[in-house]
Amino acid sequence: MAIKTIKDVDLAGKRVLVRCDFNVPLKEGEITDDSRIEAALPTIQHLVSQSAKVILCSHLGRPKGQQVADMSLAPVAEALSSKLKQPVTFIEDCIGPAVEEEVQKIGEGEIALIENVRFYPGEESNDPDFAASLGELADAYVNDAFGTAHRAHASTEGVTNHLSPCVSGFLIEKELAYLGEKTANPERPFTVILGGAKVSDKIKVIDALLEKADTIIIGGAMAYTFALAEGRRVGESLSEPDFIETAKSALEKAKAKGVKFLLPLDNLGVKELDFKAGTFSDSDFFEGNIEDGFEGVDIGPKSIELFKNEVASAKTVLWNGPMGIFEIDSCNKGTFAVAEAVAQSDAISIIGGGDSVKAIKMSGFSDSVTFMSTGGGASLEFLEGKVLPGVEALDKKS
Ligand code: 3PG
Repeated sequence: MAIKTIKDVDLAGKRVLVRCDFNVPLKEGEITDDSRIEAALPTIQHLVSQSAKVILCSHLGRPKGQQVADMSLAPVAEALSSKLKQPVTFIEDCIGPAVEEEVQKIGEGEIALIENVRFYPGEESNDPDFAASLGELADAYVNDAFGTAHRAHASTEGVTNHLSPCVSGFLIEKELAYLGEKTANPERPFTVILGGAKVSDKIKVIDALLEKADTIIIGGAMAYTFALAEGRRVGESLSEPDFIETAKSALEKAKAKGVKFLLPLDNLGVKELDFKAGTFSDSDFFEGNIEDGFEGVDIGPKSIELFKNEVASAKTVLWNGPMGIFEIDSCNKGTFAVAEAVAQSDAISIIGGGDSVKAIKMSGFSDSVTFMSTGGGASLEFLEGKVLPGVEALDKKS
């Protein structure tokens, strides 16, 4: 059933607790990627324009219930303030009488950000008392933290027992529309590109998408387990022998369903790879089998051509997971070629979060895609067809 959004309720003059996902990467106190902050702005701006009293909350990192200074949300308050061009008051705690007193001072159309909710163990354990303390801060609740919607934590789930209404923000609405509706009833042909290291991480996504897609393209280290399932040799490539049978079943299921299942035709293999240093001693392209002593690190030119042509004829493309070790310059050609193909296609292009978003940004093509998810684990669980507790807890449309 559809959930209510901030468009369905009147929040004027109300104190609204807004759960965002401000879990942004920081380096020496500087935010190195502010996409999640950008993605939260439309909801915040809407609430400000509706004269709500806005109390933002989020987690940052995994401080394990401790106060960890370099996981403070203070830099986020600053970034928000400069993007919104209005003050964002930073409150140095997230529950308790002092915080309650501070939030009373917030006027209509004003914004405050409370400190990292994971500084208390009750956040992740979804402790009812901690949730109730968060509930003390506001009248109503908006969840816009798609990236954390797969967690049943106090600020994403428990707090909904204490506030009303509980609705979604624009970001969650958009994520559900692209990762959900647009892939459930896609414009066809619907091509899915899946990459990443492990079949075990993605098998449920593959299973779910075999029900919806016309074509599934597999790249990344995951493809080496599929190659083993097809009886090929993969040299020293990362693979999961325990999942060969799983891969075989997926190949059979695709065949039975008439879903085109494309594996790489060729790969770049290297010797003595040092990931940290980004170096290797020798490299070669292999078609079919990868020679012993070599480790597959990218798809090769024939695979690039094959995958590009498939993407070019699609009307909907969903991409999740890189084609190789894109962090190393000489191993990023396949991933960047896929990024370019996705960006240049006329299809609705959806980037399913995590490393693929990082890769498409590095490739310089991120402005040309239809939608980039802000979720990592949340996107995967949603694509698997799992119920997201942070969404499930919101009010439903009657
Ligand atoms: C993420 O970055 O995927 C979300 O913010 C969730 O973070 P978590 O995996 O630490 O719960």
